[in-house]
Amino acid sequence: APAPAPAALKLNFTAVPKSLDDVVSVPAGYTASVLYRLGDPIAAGVPAYLNDGTDAPATYDKRAGDHHDGMTFFGINASNKWEPAAAARGLLAMNHEAITPLFLHPAGQTIVGTGNAAVRSVADEVQREFFLHGVSVIEVSKSGSAWSYKQDSNFNRRVHTLTEMQFSGPAAQTDYLKTKYSSDGSKTRGTLNNCANGTTPWGTYLTCEENWAGYFRRIVASDNLNRSTKEIAAFGRYGVAGTGRELWATVTPDTSDNLYGRWNTEVITGAATAADDYRNGANTYGWVVEIDPFTPGSMPKKRTALGRFGHEGACLGPVVVGKPLVWYMGDDSQNEYVYKFVSTKAWDAADVNGGIAAGDKYMDDGKLYVAKFNADGTGNWLELKLGVNGITAANPAYAFADAADVLINVRLAADVAGATKMDRPEWTAVNPRNGEVYLTLTNNTARPVGGTDAANPRSYNDPKGAAQTAQKGNPNGHVIRFADTNGDPAAVTFKWDVYLFGARSTAAADVNLSKLVADNDFSSPDGMWFSHATAGLLWLETDDSKYTDVTNCMLLAALPGQVGDGAARTITNVDGATSATQATFVGKAPGTEGLRRFLVGPKDCEITGIAESGDGRALFVNIQHPGETTPAANISDPTKFGSHWPEGGTARPRSATVVITRNDGGLIGL
Ligand code: FEO
Ligand code: CA
Ligand code: CA
Ligand code: CA
Repeated sequence: APAPAPAALKLNFTAVPKSLDDVVSVPAGYTASVLYRLGDPIAAGVPAYLNDGTDAPATYDKRAGDHHDGMTFFGINASNKWEPAAAARGLLAMNHEAITPLFLHPAGQTIVGTGNAAVRSVADEVQREFFLHGVSVIEVSKSGSAWSYKQDSNFNRRVHTLTEMQFSGPAAQTDYLKTKYSSDGSKTRGTLNNCANGTTPWGTYLTCEENWAGYFRRIVASDNLNRSTKEIAAFGRYGVAGTGRELWATVTPDTSDNLYGRWNTEVITGAATAADDYRNGANTYGWVVEIDPFTPGSMPKKRTALGRFGHEGACLGPVVVGKPLVWYMGDDSQNEYVYKFVSTKAWDAADVNGGIAAGDKYMDDGKLYVAKFNADGTGNWLELKLGVNGITAANPAYAFADAADVLINVRLAADVAGATKMDRPEWTAVNPRNGEVYLTLTNNTARPVGGTDAANPRSYNDPKGAAQTAQKGNPNGHVIRFADTNGDPAAVTFKWDVYLFGARSTAAADVNLSKLVADNDFSSPDGMWFSHATAGLLWLETDDSKYTDVTNCMLLAALPGQVGDGAARTITNVDGATSATQATFVGKAPGTEGLRRFLVGPKDCEITGIAESGDGRALFVNIQHPGETTPAANISDPTKFGSHWPEGGTARPRSATVVITRNDGGLIGL
C-alpha cells in the first residue's frame, strides 16, 4: 500500500498588511534582522563599506555584490562537510543579479565625460560594476538566536565577471565558443545577471544567467562578419542589440583586454578568426553555471547541456536512487518557454559531496526538453536534439548544423519544435509531498487581446492607479503547476492546471479569479520555493510594478495541494476576447487558510531569493534594489532617494539579505 499522505500543514501567523513604508514588515512574534548588505566585506582587513561611492574599486571582489537574488543554504557539520540538516552553521551561496549604478559611484550614475576626476574615474566605475555582479559564498552561523556572517572565513568567496570558468557538455570546445580569451572554446571569464538558482543532490550550487544579452554591444551597421541568416536571427531572438551596458564595451580596467573587448560582438579589426576577437562573446553567456561552495578555489563550470537562454533558475526535481535526475527551468522573457533537463545517468547516492566531478557525470549528458501545454490539461515535453521535432539541417527556417548549434540557439530550436509561448516563465519549485512542479508566470504586457491560450488565459486592463497607465496583457501574472506522467521525471507527457492568479483584491471578479482578499492579494509572482524542513510550505515572492501604488513587494506563504485547492470553477473570458480555450479553464480560490502575506519589503524593492536553515527555524530572504527607480538627478539630494533601507536616515539604499526567526524559536510560518 502507498505510504499515507503527510498531515496537512496549517498556517499560523497573522497576515501582514500591504504597506508602502520603507521597512521590512513581518508578523507579530517574528524578527527580521539584516545579515549581509551590498558592499559588506568578506575578507580580513577589508574596511567597512562607506556607502558613498568612494570605496576603493579593487576591494570589491572581497565585498558583497549588489542586487541579491536566488540563494541556497548549505548546512555544514563539524568536519566542514555538507550536512543538509545542519541548523546553526552553513554556507550561504547567493546571486548578485545586477546593479543600481546611481548608488555605486561618488557622483552617482555613470555619465560619460562628466564627474569629479579627483574622486572618480570611468575605469574605476567599470571595475566596481564588474565585481558587483556574480555570486557570493559566505559562512553564516547562529550564536544564541542571532545570525551573522564570518568576515574572515576561508569559505568566503566572490565569483564575478572576471572569474575564469570552464565550459563542459556538448558545446564545449566547439567553434561557437572560441574567443580571443580561449582559442579552443574551452573557457571564458565571468558570469552575470545571475537570477534564480538551483541545487544538486551532491551539494553544489547552480547559478543561472538571465538578462545577459543587454550587456553586449552589437551595432548592426558595424558588423563586418557576413554572419549567417540564422546567426542574425539568433541575435534578434536573444536580444543582443544596441550599445550594451554603458561603458563596458569601450572601457575596461582589465588590461588583458583590448579597447573593443569581450562585450563587443561587432567590430572585427584586422583579425581573421574567432580566436582573434570576441565575435562569439555573446555565446559564452546564457548558461547554467555550477559552483562548488565547499572548495573555494574550484573553477566554476558552464553546463552547456542545459541549453543557452535567459535562464531564470534550475529547480532540482525528485531525487530517487536508480532514477535519472531532472532540473526544471524557466526562460524569463515575454513569450518564452519552459524547459527540463533529464540526466542520462541514474542517481547514485555515493556521489554526495562529489563536487564538480559529479556535475560532469550528471549534467553533461542528458536530454533537453521544452514544454507544450495543450488546451485539454495535458502537455508534451518536446526533445531538443538534432534530427527530431524539425530540428534539422534541412529546416526551412533555420538550418541546424550540430548538437552544439542546437544548445547555443535553443530558443530557435524550441520555436521549430512548436513549444508554448508563456507569460514570462520565472521560478519553478517542486513540491516535496508529491513531486508536482509549480511555475510562476510573472506577467506579460505583450499578450494581446485574442492572443491568449489555455495556459496563458488572460489579457485585460488593470489600471494601476489614477496617475498610472492602464495596460493590456497579463499584468498580474499567475502560477501554473504540472506533474510528469506517473511521477517519472523522464516522462515526455504531463498534466497541468493553474494554481493561482495574481490580482488586486479590489479588482472585478473576472480579473480576481482566485478570489484574493486583503490579506493575500498580490501581483507578479516571481521567486518561489518549497520549504524542505516543513515538507510542503510554499514561499511565493513578488517582483511587481503593477500594484506598487498600493503596496511594496512581498513574501506570501501558501499550502498548495493541502488547503484551498478544492473548489474548482470555470473561468469566463476576462476581456471579451474570443479565445475558445479560455472559457474551459479551471482555477481555484486558496482563501487565507491556503495563502497569506508574511512579509512586505521596503520601498521600490523586489523580494527574491529564499533559503532556510536545516531545521527550518531561520528563513533567509533577499531584499533587492530598494529605491532603484530614484531619478538620477536626485543623487545630489539624499532626502530625495527612493529608499534609505536598511540604514535609514539619509543613507543610500542597499540590497541585503535578511534572516527571519520566530521569537519563540519555532518553525517559520507554521
Ligand atoms: Fe531576474 Fe526573471 O527575474
Ligand atoms: Ca526573478
Ligand atoms: Ca521578475
Ligand atoms: Ca529585480
